[in-house]
Amino acid sequence: MGRDFRRLLQGVPCWNRRTQAIYEQHGVPLHDVVLQSRAELALLCELIEREGVRSYLEIGVWTGRLVTALHELFDFDRVAAADIGVVESLGLPLRLPFGVDFFHGDSHSAAFVAWRRALGPVDLVLIDGDHRYDAVRADWELARRSPCRLIAFHDIVGDDPGSAGVRRLWRELEGDKIELVAPNDELGQRESTMGIGVVRGPFPRPGDLEADWPG
Ligand SMILES: C[S@@+](CC[C@H](N)C(=O)[O-])C[C@H]1O[C@@H](n2cnc3c(N)ncnc32)[C@H](O)[C@@H]1O
Repeated sequence: MGRDFRRLLQGVPCWNRRTQAIYEQHGVPLHDVVLQSRAELALLCELIEREGVRSYLEIGVWTGRLVTALHELFDFDRVAAADIGVVESLGLPLRLPFGVDFFHGDSHSAAFVAWRRALGPVDLVLIDGDHRYDAVRADWELARRSPCRLIAFHDIVGDDPGSAGVRRLWRELEGDKIELVAPNDELGQRESTMGIGVVRGPFPRPGDLEADWPG
């Protein structure tokens, strides 16, 4: 039997009623919380444990709560993160775990491609940055050409216009896909409006030629 992640995540602030109200009012979740449903985060933790994930890269960290919580739970051998720093312009803090390899910039820049190359193999990459279709597709194209085992996306379900690009890409992707979807009980939901999708590699696959690297 694995660890009880619902219990272990109790002290971690996740998307709640207040976050939802702020999001509905401002169109931005101006709240220093993990921008995930706790139930789905617990499912992600179960997957991380089951798959023996020892290294993790998060693209789009918000205030850093998710990467921090995951590193506390799993004590990864290697942890990396990238973010353009939207929270800093919104007056929210950005806090990252000690030892994180952090790229502060645009995940669609040539500098990011170079940084990702230098990072080397990563077990799990979570793509949770710019949610527009072309942007999330560009993150995917780079991720799948880079050595890793699992690539995850946040926001694969629901009807929020802001994540339509992720849902479209998720539908288009083929391969061994896992959906981690559970209603957010903190919102009293019957159905999830977020969802995490995971594609199992290995990546790169035959045909993902080195010469195809973007940038
Ligand atoms: C939805 S939030 C991430 C939530 C976080 N993963 C969590 O679960 O709490 C999206 C983040 O992506 C970042 N972002 C947006 N566009 C980006 C880009 N082109 N490159 C890097 N980060 C980007 C924003 O600054 C923001 O912090």
